[in-house]
Amino acid sequence: MYECFFELVKQRRSIRKFLSEQIDDNKIGMILKAPLMAPTSKNSRSWEFVEVNDKTLLAQLAIARPQGSGLLAHAAAAIVVLADPVKSDAWLEDASIAAAFIQLQSEDLGLGSCWVQIARRPHDELQSAEQFVRGVLTIPDTLNVVCIIALGYKEEERRPHDTDKLPVEKIHVNRY
Ligand SMILES: Cc1cc2nc3c(=O)[nH]c(=O)nc-3n(C[C@H](O)[C@H](O)[C@H](O)COP(=O)(O)O)c2cc1C
Repeated sequence: MYECFFELVKQRRSIRKFLSEQIDDNKIGMILKAPLMAPTSKNSRSWEFVEVNDKTLLAQLAIARPQGSGLLAHAAAAIVVLADPVKSDAWLEDASIAAAFIQLQSEDLGLGSCWVQIARRPHDELQSAEQFVRGVLTIPDTLNVVCIIALGYKEEERRPHDTDKLPVEKIHVNRY
């Protein structure tokens, strides 16, 4: 779809409004396989993934946090990114790279996506968002819930990144 990877990266923006159209099975297949090819510390593959396409479950996940997760209610699907801290001390890095692969693969297929943070966020004063999501999806306590990537055909147009306005001052060469 994009003529080069840089063009894809430039066009990718977080999409929070989705059409009701379902995502074709072959596209979901690629979105689920891409993170399985992501780099992991010591090749530990410390992640696991849950594809959610059930509307009732998506509506429940949408209330995982008081703010920031509501967009899941109208997503066509979502991928919950889990990590096993016993398999790797770099579980957060492994899971985060996998989540980025999901987002970039989705963009390449013409789909919108948005990262919904779950780790270290509250559900309410009694429960973490992570505990809440574990309960909704019957995820074992041994797995950490890092994030949920919302997916769907885009219902909003977002301006691509302006390469003339990138924070290039963050780049240092040789010495800081
Ligand atoms: C670690 C992380 C956590 C994020 N958490 C949320 C979230 O909970 N809800 C949300 O709507 N967007 C979330 N986002 C998306 C960011 O708000 C978004 O990437 C950022 O504003 C830059 O915009 P862009 O993705 O369109 O370039 C998160 C992104 C990252 C990388």
